[in-house]
Amino acid sequence: CGIVGIVGQQPVSERLVDALKRLEYRGYDSAGIATITEGTLQRRRAEGKLVNLETRLKAEPLNGSIGIAHTRWATHGAPTEGNAHPHFTGGVAVVHNGIIENFAELKEELTAAGAEFQTATDTEVVAHLLARHRQEGMGQGEAMHAMLKRVKGAYALAVLFEDDPSSIIAARNGPPLAIGHGDGEMFLASDAIALAPFTNEVTYLMDGDWAVIGKGGADIFDFDGYPVERPRQTSMAAAYQANKGQHRHFMEKEIYEQPEAIGHVLAHYVSLIENRADAVPIFDFASIPSLAISACGTAYLAGLIGKYWFERYARLPVEIDVASEFRYREIPLSPQSAALFISQSGETADTLASLRYCKKLGLKIGAIVNAAESSIAREADAVFPILAGPEIGVASTKAFTCQLAVLAALAISAARTRGTVTETEVQALVRSLAEMPRIMSQVLNSVQPKIELLARELSRYHDVLYLGRGTSFPLAMEGALKLKEISYIHAEGYAAGELKHGPIALIDKNMPVIVIAPFDRFFNKTVSNMEEVAARGGRVILITDQKGATASKLDTMHTIVLPAVDEIIAPMIFSLPIQLLAYHTAVFMGTDVDQPRNLAKSVTVE
Ligand code: G6P
Repeated sequence: CGIVGIVGQQPVSERLVDALKRLEYRGYDSAGIATITEGTLQRRRAEGKLVNLETRLKAEPLNGSIGIAHTRWATHGAPTEGNAHPHFTGGVAVVHNGIIENFAELKEELTAAGAEFQTATDTEVVAHLLARHRQEGMGQGEAMHAMLKRVKGAYALAVLFEDDPSSIIAARNGPPLAIGHGDGEMFLASDAIALAPFTNEVTYLMDGDWAVIGKGGADIFDFDGYPVERPRQTSMAAAYQANKGQHRHFMEKEIYEQPEAIGHVLAHYVSLIENRADAVPIFDFASIPSLAISACGTAYLAGLIGKYWFERYARLPVEIDVASEFRYREIPLSPQSAALFISQSGETADTLASLRYCKKLGLKIGAIVNAAESSIAREADAVFPILAGPEIGVASTKAFTCQLAVLAALAISAARTRGTVTETEVQALVRSLAEMPRIMSQVLNSVQPKIELLARELSRYHDVLYLGRGTSFPLAMEGALKLKEISYIHAEGYAAGELKHGPIALIDKNMPVIVIAPFDRFFNKTVSNMEEVAARGGRVILITDQKGATASKLDTMHTIVLPAVDEIIAPMIFSLPIQLLAYHTAVFMGTDVDQPRNLAKSVTVE
């Protein structure tokens, strides 16, 4: 999931591991490093966390001043040391992000020709192809070019050839790769954040590009082997130093950063609403017949809440699906429509593929992203940054609420352009949005003790059901997603009205039901669903506001009471107790909160 490389003047192994640490947040389950030391390729690999690799390196150091390193998130083959990258064969070392889709047929062909495979990975075919081309007499670059013509799928690759201790060869098709320019040294990484301590001058490879990186610079070629120029830019990532402050985990820090982050988003987007003339010029909200939205995971759930807003306020029909389905559903979309893609990382493979699908159909493309230098941002016609600052915890928190704030602003802007709300209504909505930072701080400063109590109890259960109506329904799904991601407690989010069509069969004292119910148009209906749970011996945890707490007579296991807020900001405000509940439950369970097992922050494979 993370690649780094250094062509240096001094031994590189320590810096390579340091750079990998900066990519740790993306999730991985094994790691490895290779250098050329005294003319020979050598590697160290280890299962699990980077500290295992460090221990290995302490016992058996590597001294080369050129090297590549990798953190692996298993796709093909278990996360064992044997399957960890770099893969070695015939004087070639390879690290890879992505999936080689035609690896099975290539493996068969190579095996028939005498190659001996040592791993269960798809990546190893790359090493064997390169080794074979070298045996056939090709130079390094030629071999690379020939190999790239044979492999299909998504890749970011870094390669070392034993007989060339002066360069790393890299290639990109899908997952990002940034070349870093140093002083007499050059770097390579799958995320500019990894290079922050070394350089902030980067060149991103484009899809189909491959590059020969030496100490003094890089030569970049396109898929057909012609030299190409790619712009050198100053990466913003360098300004960022990952640091938890006084918090135990990045996730906790990021939850508490929300009032400030939302403040930034509002400062940026409220002017967009106020400047009504060209709020979102590329979209022409007044005339588009519909809007398509696609994303994955938490970003998808933000999009689902966005759908409620665009439809309700702007009377704009929204077609939304998770990107892995969206990209293949062959949805009949009008080229007059617009499409929005939501992604914290801006690199999620399925979301990017959905974007390209819509682009091909001629739709105008907007991207709601956190990583402004990402692929999704680059390929969109308009970028709506969420301005959340780097999010390190794998479970998304501040990115979610900032995505929601952007969606709310866009929906209001669309509503005004389409004339579906009055000016007074627009002003009221904007005033509500502006209240968010203050109310978020108030909630974060008051709910923690109660949530900790509840989390301690929740950590004893194996199943939890979340219910909600309206925008609280996607929020119920987000609550369940957060809890399962980091505490590993099984949780489901359901539309409250669907309770009686299935999940009610599961209700008993062993499955707490968390009901998200602000005092809105749906409150009474949701309360009826709560009664149905209580009548069957179920335990209800109610998350509501002051008005709801007064109105509900039900005897709940716990009630979390938030300030009463306007309907449009309820999803952002109600996100806070939901995030904190998942967080504290996970802390009680003793799980790896920031890097939960099997999950990755940036999913660049299908
Ligand atoms: C992964 C992360 C989730 C995230 C999803 C989409 O599964 O673990 O937290 O919501 O990817 O990521 P994106 O970067 O596209 O928002």
